[in-house]
Amino acid sequence: MAERYAASYALYERACKIIPGGIQLDGGRPLLHGGLSPLYFDRARGPYVWDADGNRYIDLIMAYGPFVLGYGHPEVDAAAVAQLEHGNLISMNHPLHVRFIEELLHRFPYAEMGAFFKAGSEATTAALRVARRATGRRAVARCGYHGWHDWCHSNADFVPARLDEQVLAYDALDTQSLQRLFDEHPDEIAAVILAPEMVHPSNREAVAAIARLAHANGALFIMDEVKTGLRAPGGSMQNFYGIRPDLTTLSKALGNGWPIAALVGTRDTMRYGAGISLSATYHGETSAMAAAIETLRIVERDNAPAYLEGLGQRFITGLNAAAARNHVPARAYGEPIAAMPFLSFADDSRNLKERFYADVLSRGVLLHPNHLWYVSTAHTERDIDDALAIVDDAMARLAL
Ligand SMILES: Cc1ncc(COP(=O)(O)O)c(C=O)c1O
Repeated sequence: MAERYAASYALYERACKIIPGGIQLDGGRPLLHGGLSPLYFDRARGPYVWDADGNRYIDLIMAYGPFVLGYGHPEVDAAAVAQLEHGNLISMNHPLHVRFIEELLHRFPYAEMGAFFKAGSEATTAALRVARRATGRRAVARCGYHGWHDWCHSNADFVPARLDEQVLAYDALDTQSLQRLFDEHPDEIAAVILAPEMVHPSNREAVAAIARLAHANGALFIMDEVKTGLRAPGGSMQNFYGIRPDLTTLSKALGNGWPIAALVGTRDTMRYGAGISLSATYHGETSAMAAAIETLRIVERDNAPAYLEGLGQRFITGLNAAAARNHVPARAYGEPIAAMPFLSFADDSRNLKERFYADVLSRGVLLHPNHLWYVSTAHTERDIDDALAIVDDAMARLAL
């Protein structure tokens, strides 16, 4: 196996000397220990990637979510490149800034204003800042991952002291835990932020209950749709559920690989975004905005969420059938949406799990052992069936 990934590991050795942790994604770790997984990829097209050793994979990680239409989508990339040629970042404002927010507001009818950023972490951090200014309160209630910024790691010893007194954790599967925070911190909590995938299996009523609880206690409700935006049925989980938050954060699929993020919300709330320093040098960069406008158009034109849901479901059904056929203690699911499938091994089957992933990776299917996966509109049923054939074979070999 080490030979298959020789170029990857040679790069990794060099990287470890000059980049803290060696690699930027996945907490600085390879997918699997012991040289069992590829680490560097130098080419991508549609649903496929090629590692630094020249091995091809059907990619089901898709760069952790951005490529809803697949790598190198010709229309999206052409829009971005055309924009590059007109000047990517200009000294003052650009007409695309206005058009981009207008395009977004069409898709989130409750929202009346928006702001643009480069990464999901920036959009979620901005949402909290706006909420603090709007409510005059300082604390926030959160659960799950919302980015790399200090407030998302409030207990860690590498962030400012006592951050955890203002960033309060609740459990999205236990509404009472949120009620307790409001009881313990009356009139202190500015906003409740929720990434809808934290409520699983999909449960409209549970999300609505969190929104109601926030409002009943004078806090704003923020839906962090960084993962689910443009992927969920109807284009977002809030559209799917018919729930209206005060603020929504978007990134990942928004630019189909071009770096862009946004915060949209009601005028009542978003107007507090003026004058609170939400700007950075590269926020106004326009090629990613042109890409995002094109991505929004194509996702709608092709009804991408319906296709992704069908494809994800096909994969999940096939994975569960393979696990049952081969008596493997693993269960596939897509919670809250099939467009983000995953295979979960039983807790006591670590050895089986590692052997399984090492095997599928060595045969050209890029699956993440510890993070949910993503399908794209570039994947065909044939790609999914090819991946399933390798999965089935790898599961059969676990018994040997
Ligand atoms: C729900 C959610 N919010 C925010 C973020 C942060 O986005 P980014 O990595 O673009 O900063 C992520 C990233 O995975 C996410 O999944």
